[in-house]
Amino acid sequence: MTKLILDLDTGIDDTLALLYALASPEAQVIGITGTFGNVTMEQGVANDLALLALFGRPDIPVFAGIDHPSWASSFAVMPESGRFHGRNGTGNVEIPERSATTGCSRGVQTRTAVDFIVDSVHADETDELVIVPTGASTSIAAALAAAPDIADRARIVMMGGALTQPGNVTPFAEANIMQDPEASAELFASGTRITMIGLDVTTQVKLTREQAETYRETGTATGAFLSEMLAYYIDVTEEAHPTGVPGCNLHDPLAVAAALDPSLIDTFSCDIMVETEGAGRGRTIGDPARVTCPSGRTQVALAVDAERFVERFMERTLAFVRRCP
Ligand code: BDR
Ligand code: CA
Repeated sequence: MTKLILDLDTGIDDTLALLYALASPEAQVIGITGTFGNVTMEQGVANDLALLALFGRPDIPVFAGIDHPSWASSFAVMPESGRFHGRNGTGNVEIPERSATTGCSRGVQTRTAVDFIVDSVHADETDELVIVPTGASTSIAAALAAAPDIADRARIVMMGGALTQPGNVTPFAEANIMQDPEASAELFASGTRITMIGLDVTTQVKLTREQAETYRETGTATGAFLSEMLAYYIDVTEEAHPTGVPGCNLHDPLAVAAALDPSLIDTFSCDIMVETEGAGRGRTIGDPARVTCPSGRTQVALAVDAERFVERFMERTLAFVRRCP
């Protein structure tokens, strides 16, 4: 059993990451921490609570994270994020409400995301816990600053960055890193065990329009919601990349899948630094200062068994959705 903390900016593919985690028998989601990016932190957390209710898991606690980047005093959603994820994060499709008899959400916890992360790493005596960040790195970096000892103990499998591919928000930067390059720089410099699931591999895992429609065929409200949300995501993706492979990328679900089954990816050991200045701001690149004394603590995924992952993703999530209202 792998215990997961999902640090989400929910988000269409974050929704799918949560769905995949809940649909995976070897995963135990011990908490969701909210970050910002695709949406504000508050909107993301509201989405998490509504999704947990819909997916029949209102028992999973949700913690509010830091709501703005470390380099600014506030946060506004980037126009590109709003375009890809809609004004509400789920492609302008409402998350269906599940009847109250199935269990009410506990609401947002009073403990902060930072405290929850620190406490959970301290409590993890058997190295079963993996933190899966799929948005801005701000809360994770704050947890490392609050309790530097967790760098030795925590395991992180993150969606973010790009080593062999261009960025998706600038020629160099991937969206999650660009939300808070300073925080991501601290995270990579901390010596924490990190597997970077970047655009190198997430752009290889595609969900087609036909696959997206199969959720609707379950005849459930959950399935209809997912198919509509995915149709929105595929429309904007294909509009933005008319010559690309059709369908949408399964960025965030791949990070969850790799946390649960590292055999899905091949990695390259490389200490990463994040550029914070100039045109390269947000770029994830090998750190020249550590090239002669590599730590072996950061692995970058450069290959993925895309077919095996997508097949497993569809099989698990469809079976789960058939059990939903
Ligand atoms: C990442 O950015 C966000 O838009 C997605 O949810 C994903 O986490 C892809 O670059
Ligand atoms: Ca995300």
